[in-house]
Order: sequence, then C-alpha cells, then structure tokens
Amino acid sequence: MATHTETEVDALTESALEHLWVYLREPSDMAEKGEPQIFVEGKGVHVTDARGNEYIDAMSGLWLKNVGYGRHEIADAAYAQMLKLTYMPMGTTNEPAVLLAEKIASITPGDLSRCFFTSGGSESVETAIKLARAYFKRVGEPTRYKFISRKGSYHGATMGALALGGTPGFPKQDYEPMMPGFFHGPQPHPYRCEYGGTTPEECAERCANAIEEIIKFQGPDTVAAVVAEPISSPYGAVVPGPNYWPMLREICDRYGCLLIADEVITGFGRTGKMFACDHWGITPDIMTVAKGLTSGYIPMGGAILRKPIADAFVGSPQAAFKHVITFGGHPVAAAAALKNIQIMEEEGMVENSARMGRYLLDGLEELKEKHQIIGDVRGLGLLCGLDIVKDRQTKEPFPAEANLGARLTQGFSDNGIILRGGDAMNIAPPLCVTAGEIDEIVTVFDKVITQTARDLGAE
Ligand SMILES: Cc1ncc(COP(=O)(O)O)c(C=O)c1O
Repeated sequence: MATHTETEVDALTESALEHLWVYLREPSDMAEKGEPQIFVEGKGVHVTDARGNEYIDAMSGLWLKNVGYGRHEIADAAYAQMLKLTYMPMGTTNEPAVLLAEKIASITPGDLSRCFFTSGGSESVETAIKLARAYFKRVGEPTRYKFISRKGSYHGATMGALALGGTPGFPKQDYEPMMPGFFHGPQPHPYRCEYGGTTPEECAERCANAIEEIIKFQGPDTVAAVVAEPISSPYGAVVPGPNYWPMLREICDRYGCLLIADEVITGFGRTGKMFACDHWGITPDIMTVAKGLTSGYIPMGGAILRKPIADAFVGSPQAAFKHVITFGGHPVAAAAALKNIQIMEEEGMVENSARMGRYLLDGLEELKEKHQIIGDVRGLGLLCGLDIVKDRQTKEPFPAEANLGARLTQGFSDNGIILRGGDAMNIAPPLCVTAGEIDEIVTVFDKVITQTARDLGAE
C-alpha cells in the first residue's frame, strides 16, 4: 500500500534530483527514468517504495541485509542503548563495544582476537593498510610497505582501499595519482582464468603462483601484505578453487608478509559459514568486516587482528597504534551488532544461507541448461553470481549497444525483483530467505532472461 500521495513522491523525487547525491547514479539518467526510487519500508526479504510497489530485494541492499529487513529486536536494542549511553568520554570505551569485540573473537577463525572498530568497510580496509605498515615498523622490518591485491577486486572508496581495488566499474583515472606501493595480480576466476587454467584448481594454483612471482619480483622484504576478498563480487561472486586460500596462506608465511582477508561482503554468514575463510580452514593475519556485522541497521565495521600481530602494538607508548575513527565502537552500533549476531545464531541463518544458497544455485543451474546466454553459474552460500554471454563457446559478452544491463535490471524490476543486470551478475538475497522466495526469484529470472534473449535475437 502506498504510504505517500503521488504528489508527495513527485516532490521528494524532484528534491532528490536537485540536492541529493545518490551513489553510483547520475542525475540526468535518473530524471529521465523518473528516479531515484524512494523506499520507505522493509520486512524480511521485501521492500516497499513510496508509491506502494513491493519487491524482493535479491541483493540485500548492497550485500548487507543478512538477517533481513524489519527486525524490531535490533531497533529495540539500539533504542535501549540510546537511552543509556550514546557515546563515551575520550580514551574510554563502552560495554556493548567490549562485549562485541569478545563475541567477534569467539566466532572468527583461529587466534583472530583483537578488533579495531570503524564505521564501515572502506575505513576497515584503510585501518588494515595502516596496521600492516605500522606492524612492520614495530617488528623491525621497516622496508615492508608494499601491498599486493588482485585485478577484479573491490576494497572500498577511500584512497588506500581504492589503490588496492582493480575494478573496471570503478576506474582510477579520475583520482590519480594513486598511492605508491600497490601492485595487482590476477583474479582466480575459473570461468575466465587469465592464466589459462582449465579447472578451478588449476586456475587457483596459477593465480596464487602469480602472487608469489610478484612478491619475488618486488623483493620479499618490501612486501607488507597480500590483500584479497575470499570471493570477489565485481565480476559476480568469483569463487576460487579450494586450493587458492591455503596457497595464499602458505606463500605469505614463506615470505613473511601478512595475509589480509577482506570479508566485508563474505563475513557474517553470507557464504554459508560464519566467515568465508572457514571454508578453507585458514586464518588471515587481519580480517576486515562491515556490512553484515550489523546487517546494515547501523553503520559499523572493524579490522580484526591475530594476537601476535596485535601484540606488536602493546607494551609502550611508542608501540601504540596511532589511529582514531571517531565513530568506531559506537555503543549504539555495537548494541545493534550484538543483537544482529544473536539473531543470526539463534535462528540458524548461517545454515540457512548454506541450504538456500545450494537451492538457488540448483535453480540457476537449471536455467543455464535452458538458456544459451547464461554462460556460467557459481556461488557459495547466498553469494551467487553468473555470466551472461552472447556466445557460449567464445564467452563473448554482448556489445555495449545491446544495453544488456539496463534491459535486465528493468525486467527484474517490472517483475518485482531488485537485481542489477549485466555481463557479470550477483544474486545475494538476505540469509532469512525461504525456498518459496527463491522460487520466485528463479521464476522471474527465467522469464526475464527468456524475454531479453528474444529481444536481442540470441535464443
Ligand atoms: C570487499 C569489500 N571491501 C570493502 C568495501 C567498502 O565498504 P564500504 O562501502 O562500507 O566503505 C566493500 C563495499 O562494497 C567491499 O565489497
């Protein structure tokens, strides 16, 4: 049901076009389409806009509504904390932040045990970059300042995080010069392996070896860390072969550099385990988190360190980590995060993510059998992706003039599903999604792909 009159929505839309910067959107394009769309309510996997249109949000906002929309318990926890204490005196902390750090230490892999809280993913990555460089100053290896990340990765919008990333959708040219000391290896993308691997394992091995080659070429004693997302999203949930992360761990150990796992998307149940690193039994030296930490109810992130790394910053004023994020460890955000994790655990959402992720993948695999333009389907838990191709044999994408992304996005929206179309796509509904809701998503996907293939003369 509409919560606003047409006139009210029109006025809000006009105002947004004039005054608001909507991320990833350009105003004249939105104006042409009568956008930005303005949302007013959410419950479970569903969201409703101000005109009363209801959708399944098959992207969980931006991969973050892990427990779904509209959980009153989280609002209640935040409200109760707001009534008690909304910030703390300088140089002190608060009870929810302590309890949250303890909780995180208990659910993260291995000896990850100390958390620096931030307000989001980019700040967490930026914090990890600074921690890695400062760590090597503390332990007497000050020449280690370089970072190796991968092409086809996204790590955030701030300058350090941007320098780590390598996504065509976020070109760096506008912001150059980049920070010095950042180098990029290949993405272990089994469907489009840059190093010609023909199986996920072979691709993983060659791409991990390429990281080792960069370390050797740069000089191991200059490299501070290798940074990677366990599963990369810019090219649509690229799941590396199972040997990739164990190999990265081994390579980092061999050359004495840190391994930083950016679990901003993959953390907190998204991949069917609490953290994606759990799939491969490895412990990174630093793990960055955000998004699912609070399921996006309030902004919050963190950089979590293994004990030996954190201990380098303990013992004297000189050793201390000189870094502050004003809103890091905010008591209201921490209270929301604690409740969010509690819901996730009590309602078995991580297990549901594994189960429903498998179910979604099965559905998408069936569609791949049916539609030639679906080139590849992949995923882990509820982090799924696919490639849409013009030619299955050559894996050639549709030309830009085909407007594939816009066609698909519009088609999904017309059928009540929020998803971003494109050559490489992500599907990541909230972890509370039911089999019936997955069926709806897959049915709409089938319909929209059928229509799009027909429109493009490809089926
Ligand atoms: C893997 C990864 N790291 C970092 C970030 C940056 O997070 P934020 O947008 O909260 O700054 C993102 C955002 O999508 C991400 O996907």
